[in-house]
Amino acid sequence: MAKDFSTMEHSSPVGRDTIHTVSAPSRRQWLQGGVAAFLSPLAVQSGAVTALLATAGCATKVEPLSGGMASAATKLGFKPVAISTQDTVTVPEGYTATPIAAWGEPVGMAGGQPAFRWDGSNSAAEQALQLGMHHDGIHFFPLKGSERGLLVMNHEYTDDGLLHVGGMADWSAEKVAKSQAAHGVSVIEVARQADGSWQMVRPSRFARRITASTACAVSGPAAGHPMLQTALDPSGLRVLGTLNNCGSGLTPWGTYLTCEENFIGYFRAPNRPDAHQRRWGMRPGEGFGYRWAEFDARFDAVDHPNEVNRFGWVVEIDPMDPSSTPVKRTALGRAAHEGATVAMTKDGRAVVYMGEDARFEYIYKFVSRDRMQPGGAKANAALLDQGTLYVARFDADGTGRWLPLRHGQGPLTAANGFADAGAVMVKTRQASDLLGGTQMDRPEWTAVDPQGFVYCTLTNNNQRGQAGRAGIDAANPRGDNTMGNIIRWKEDGDFDGERFQWTHFVLAGDPANGRAEAKGNVKGDAFACPDGLWVDARGLMWIQTDMHVREMGKGDLAKLGHNAMLCADPTSGEVRRFLTGPAGCEITGATGTADGRTMFINIQHPGEPPDDRSEPGAVRAISNWPDQRPDGRPRSATLVIRRIDGGLIGS
Ligand code: FEO
Ligand code: CA
Ligand code: CA
Repeated sequence: MAKDFSTMEHSSPVGRDTIHTVSAPSRRQWLQGGVAAFLSPLAVQSGAVTALLATAGCATKVEPLSGGMASAATKLGFKPVAISTQDTVTVPEGYTATPIAAWGEPVGMAGGQPAFRWDGSNSAAEQALQLGMHHDGIHFFPLKGSERGLLVMNHEYTDDGLLHVGGMADWSAEKVAKSQAAHGVSVIEVARQADGSWQMVRPSRFARRITASTACAVSGPAAGHPMLQTALDPSGLRVLGTLNNCGSGLTPWGTYLTCEENFIGYFRAPNRPDAHQRRWGMRPGEGFGYRWAEFDARFDAVDHPNEVNRFGWVVEIDPMDPSSTPVKRTALGRAAHEGATVAMTKDGRAVVYMGEDARFEYIYKFVSRDRMQPGGAKANAALLDQGTLYVARFDADGTGRWLPLRHGQGPLTAANGFADAGAVMVKTRQASDLLGGTQMDRPEWTAVDPQGFVYCTLTNNNQRGQAGRAGIDAANPRGDNTMGNIIRWKEDGDFDGERFQWTHFVLAGDPANGRAEAKGNVKGDAFACPDGLWVDARGLMWIQTDMHVREMGKGDLAKLGHNAMLCADPTSGEVRRFLTGPAGCEITGATGTADGRTMFINIQHPGEPPDDRSEPGAVRAISNWPDQRPDGRPRSATLVIRRIDGGLIGS
């Protein structure tokens, strides 16, 4: 989104900026055939290899790697596309990319399938039966192999200028309800047709919308905690809705994880936010300008200060049971969560890697106490409720430590404001501050490759090194980091290890730049601002970029065109540009069928306007993708990517 944060104060602890959007961009694994398919790449842990890790300018080294699988990564087998400034999608020769499931299309619930109306006149009730706005994280859950399945996807935020007739004029309870209904998650059924195309299946008994108003349960250490209790929910156990759903993840027991990112901006703030509120980025005023508080009292943090503590969680959804209640898993900590990537230890415990996308925030992992049990979602309904949350510290010698957020241990005591384990989870940022986690350059998605390397995109940070801000360090080696990095590490031992060895997989950049720090070290096609990240079942890495519309085509990004998706070989480090998007969009979310022949990604906010309140005509002037109707409005949509010959994608 393009809310203007330029007037916001920076009063969070030294070096941190609690919302990645304060002066820049803001944005409102795959389970294939079940557990065996999920485990197979990560479970191959025998043998030892030596791998040359990409250099970082600060840490060039050859690491002896224990537990690696001999090079299994598939070589890149497509001709890369050029950068683009056209309002269209480009893919390599021999490929097709077809939009489906755009904002406003009915998801296919039996209760009703209202058609999208181009003038924005669908009601809130109708929007609650349609795909939401601004698709983000996505995952394919097979129903019939690689032929039919569910797509579960996030809807991160709304552009209210496009959402309503008259935009934000005549603001009303109905418009607030529609905005809330356009947030959240969609579950749709899709099937491959005889001609190879994919279509939505409607009606579908699985079709579902989860919105910013859907009742969610709360579990884990902060369930029922006083900091989650409100006048409207004294129990602290039942939250209405999930919002700003950005990155995602999936579990090997068959559930979807949706991550609540920039929740803070939905709240009307007090004139003098307290220290806790400030640490979470709350500034005096109306937040990001959603104006929900005018008609929904719980978003007024003056009267309902604890409501904000009920967001910022990873939410688990069982897409196979449309009657299931989404559960906010507080044991995974509270953050502006970007994604949640699950790996499994050899003995069957779940490890969840998570980035917090805000300048100078942290990378986390959660290790479950218990082992996964056979029996799918129901049998593992409490697996993410007990375990240990860690924050990462990247040391200059190329090693790292996972620092546990355990109540009563080290500084996490009542004397320091952590009354109990629940308070540690609600105040994850403050706990990480005290533990000394490394303040990163906006950690976005994480991914795990077949060799057991864990990756995290660090999308950019144009404030590192500025006066009053943290300076460069080994893991964040560039001041005014406009281009971003991808960092990677390998745990010492299994995924639950408390120590690791790290390096930079790639420093994004463009050799055409004059500024040395913006050139990067990409082995292949230039790119900037990595965000979405997915390693497919064959080990190919898909990197999706999110250059903000205000910066796209300017400065260090001048020659990079529109946002793109690149494919990398994790073994060689080679990077090729696979896809370019329409004007003003970001590319996000990636998933695919088990046979490797269909890939689904999301095009988010085509035509993103300078102001979220912009009228459709002004937005169409930027992009009118995908429909290109003179009277239409650009829409986020899912892209179905196939090879014309039906072959393996990327190979
Ligand atoms: Fe919603 Fe950090 O992207
Ligand atoms: Ca993102
Ligand atoms: Ca981003």
